[in-house]
Amino acid sequence: MNRVIVLGGYGQLGSEIVARLGDRGLPLGRDAADITDAVALSHALTAAAPTTVVNCVAYNLVDQAEGEPEAAYAVNAWGARNIAHWCGVHRVPLMHISSDYVFGRDSRRNTPYAETDVCGPVNVYGTSKSVGESAVKENCPQSWIVRTCGLYGRQSTRGKGNFVDTMVRLGRERPELKIVNDQRCTPTYAGDLAEALLALLATEAYGLYHATNAGDCTWYEFAREVFRQRGLTPNVIPITSAEYAAKAPRPGYSVLNCEKLTKTIGRSLRPWREALVEYLR
Ligand SMILES: NC(=O)c1ccc[n+]([C@@H]2O[C@H](COP(=O)([O-])OP(=O)(O)OC[C@H]3O[C@@H](n4cnc5c(N)ncnc54)[C@H](OP(=O)(O)O)[C@@H]3O)[C@@H](O)[C@H]2O)c1
Repeated sequence: MNRVIVLGGYGQLGSEIVARLGDRGLPLGRDAADITDAVALSHALTAAAPTTVVNCVAYNLVDQAEGEPEAAYAVNAWGARNIAHWCGVHRVPLMHISSDYVFGRDSRRNTPYAETDVCGPVNVYGTSKSVGESAVKENCPQSWIVRTCGLYGRQSTRGKGNFVDTMVRLGRERPELKIVNDQRCTPTYAGDLAEALLALLATEAYGLYHATNAGDCTWYEFAREVFRQRGLTPNVIPITSAEYAAKAPRPGYSVLNCEKLTKTIGRSLRPWREALVEYLR
């Protein structure tokens, strides 16, 4: 019987995967398996005896990471390496989740990134995720590395929430909101991504993949669609990243080309607006 261990299985994406795996899935949270502790992690994985491991763990406080890079690297780079090392030694296939933020250095980019494009992160979080990808590739040949973008799901990320829930709350509380309009990417519903990841897990087509809902928008456009679908009417003002002045720089464009995934699993994820309808319902 297959036994899929989902590290980070109580997080936004992990919980959606676990929910769909039924009896085959087992979530392991930080208490049971802290991925920064290689020895404890190895014991936990050996005891759980998985046939497949999915790594949904992340340090994803993007701004905070600028001030504590070692904390971001401990999880996103060295933690990923710890998992991949165990999987490689025990020949257990590993699915590792990564991010569109491995891109962004090409400030003139305006066409979707393919898996063959060279990484160029612009912040600590993105760099730590890029190092994590390399560590997985080096240590575990039987691995799928899947980059996604702008995730939102029912189990909001601790300490961060998710963009949709935050917009619904602020749209009720405030008459006016300023939202960044010069970062283009693809918001992705964690439930849709989980479905696609399970389809990919059923293949032995290891390698690097991009997986997001279809289409793209800026955060300003996304916020306006959230308000439209929710019937909220705050005054929404588009601003630049420079005006917003977040601690970490962000890619101006990080849309991912998902054709390889579509070919591999035989379908694509639905357009982001349709996914948002489902989530808000
Ligand atoms: N969120 C996004 O917008 C986004 C965008 C692109 C890519 N991604 C990628 O998608 C994946 C899933 O993200 P998500 O949004 O589902 O993240 P999430 O909701 O923050 O879940 C991450 C999980 O990792 C756990 N964790 C953190 N440090 C740990 C450690 N040292 N050992 C074990 N578990 C630990 C967290 O547990 P605690 O609750 O105990 O901290 C949490 O359950 C990540 O690889 C992320 O980089 C996310």
